[in-house]
Amino acid sequence: MGKKAIGVDVGGTGIKAAVVDTKTGELTSERLKLGTPDGGEPEDIAQVVKAIVNSLPGSKPKPIGICFPAVVQNGFTQSAANVSDRWIGLDAKTLFSEALGQEVLVMNDADAAGVAEVDFGAGRSVKGLIVMTTLGTGIGTALFYKGRLIPNAELGHIEIDGVDYETMAAYSAMEREGLSFAQWAERLQRYYSQLEKLLSPALFIVGGGISKSSDEFLPLLDLKTPIVPAQLLNAAGIIGVAAAARESV
Ligand code: BGC
Repeated sequence: MGKKAIGVDVGGTGIKAAVVDTKTGELTSERLKLGTPDGGEPEDIAQVVKAIVNSLPGSKPKPIGICFPAVVQNGFTQSAANVSDRWIGLDAKTLFSEALGQEVLVMNDADAAGVAEVDFGAGRSVKGLIVMTTLGTGIGTALFYKGRLIPNAELGHIEIDGVDYETMAAYSAMEREGLSFAQWAERLQRYYSQLEKLLSPALFIVGGGISKSSDEFLPLLDLKTPIVPAQLLNAAGIIGVAAAARESV
């Protein structure tokens, strides 16, 4: 197979896909997006993934990677964020492989975004511990040491004052509560300070759609660890899972 692969990023509101050149990390097709079916049921999501993959250009078979907002172990989704609870304990790899007629790779969405940043973006050539975070509906996290992924870190759910801090510091909390950037940054300060205390990273990378506006909040944070915006923005999940799928063939 060539160096191209298909990346699909499943989220609670949208499902995005593109063809990726896994040597350069560039998209070689338009990025397509369809809405996530209401309820986020497994069969419905699998059908939308099939439709979006079939709409991508190119006739040659390519590796396919699918990233998902869940802990993913050996192809099984072990949690479910903003999708149906039926994903918990489900053999997602078999579900998607049957729908698409070929074996696919399934991985956590933040892990996929981190792979893209480490291979092609803000984490390139950083050898120490990288903590990738995505600030969106939830907080996704991914850990890399010497460029290697330690999968399924769920550090978005760290408790501070007995509260799952994703509910306080995700971008959705800012939107829901109408917080200013300064107010939101106070929560981010607590969150990243806690991660810093626990992990002593070499670098924090901040992804998710809001990382486009990182100038509004990253300068407000006072941390020992360098903290930088992600470079691949909304395509990171697609690029990272495509690269991982290409590697796994
Ligand atoms: C989930 C993670 C996911 C993150 C971002 C969290 O709520 O627990 O698995 O990576 O949201 O989608």
